[in-house]
Amino acid sequence: MIDQLYRKAVLTVAERPPVEHLMRSRGWGLAQRFVAGEDIPSALAAVKDLEKDGVMGNLDLLGEFIESPEQCTAFADDVLRLIEAAHGAGIKPYVSIKLSSVGQGKEGRGKHEAGEDLGLTNARRIVGQAKRYGGFVCLDMEDSGRVDQTLAQFRTLASEFGHEHVGTVLQSYLRRSLADRAALDDLSPNLRIVKGAYLEPETVAYPDKSDVDQNYRRLVYAHLKAGHYTNVATHDEQIIDDVRRFALAHGVSKDQFEFQMLYGIRRDLQKSLAAEGYRVRAYIPYGRDWYAYFSRRIAETPRNAVFVLRGMLKG
Ligand code: FDA
Repeated sequence: MIDQLYRKAVLTVAERPPVEHLMRSRGWGLAQRFVAGEDIPSALAAVKDLEKDGVMGNLDLLGEFIESPEQCTAFADDVLRLIEAAHGAGIKPYVSIKLSSVGQGKEGRGKHEAGEDLGLTNARRIVGQAKRYGGFVCLDMEDSGRVDQTLAQFRTLASEFGHEHVGTVLQSYLRRSLADRAALDDLSPNLRIVKGAYLEPETVAYPDKSDVDQNYRRLVYAHLKAGHYTNVATHDEQIIDDVRRFALAHGVSKDQFEFQMLYGIRRDLQKSLAAEGYRVRAYIPYGRDWYAYFSRRIAETPRNAVFVLRGMLKG
């Protein structure tokens, strides 16, 4: 409950225009702890750097709630350029996209299929391109209002391109997620399990952290037991230890799951898990539109708010 209140307070303050203005003008130096840079070369350099520690990368071009259909398609074109550049640099493309950024909820126009959701049209281009290079696209999960459409679009894309090339995310704070996981079983889906980063009402999300954590374990264990590839995306060491124990006890091999963490957070843990032979991947955001992403990281833990306040006072 306290976590929810803290998150709500931070995200509400972060949305206020004067705060956003101040942070956008003075906060970039601080945001660089969590964001790899503003352009593709910086993002690819971060992947290469992590590879030295045996950690793989998951590239994410930042951009949320992009408004016009033209901007959404231009954003998708930027993701295609990222995939090309990664392939060109000898990196197997692994990217995450937010369907809202590529037009989810907007009708395609002109050259797009009549009446089709623009998010699906653009996601199809992106997954197709990644597949050409043996790569993978994860459809990030956004606010609860988008879950139905995101899961339906994931189903379409997984049927067209195969679960080796596209996956999605379930959030353990949502009461519905266990049922959603079971309903996807026929696709042998590659799923990332997270706790959830948006402000959600109690009607749809557990308000208490203990319930969110318990549901997290349930989701991961159920997905591993079903024999599907599981991305355990958390910095929670207790959960990470429990998943390791669960895998050992149930004979789940180390190539059926991976640990995923955010760029700039617990690099020590990322490195030590990789050294123990676990697959580890860091989520590497980059791009000029870093503010919303940065705000969510601050909302996750007061330690990050202290980090930002100290930085602002120094700067
Ligand atoms: P929790 O918040 O309980 O933290 C566990 C421990 O890690 C604590 O000690 C905490 O202090 C530390 N910690 C957590 N976050 C930290 C931070 N930002 N800085 C420093 N320490 C931190 N969400 C979503 O809604 N949709 C999505 O698609 C994704 N995608 C995604 C991908 C990956 C790879 C990760 C790791 C996370 C996401 N998330 C996400 C975000 C996720 O929902 C959640 O908000 C964060 O992972 C934080 O929760 P933890 O699981 O780390 O646990």
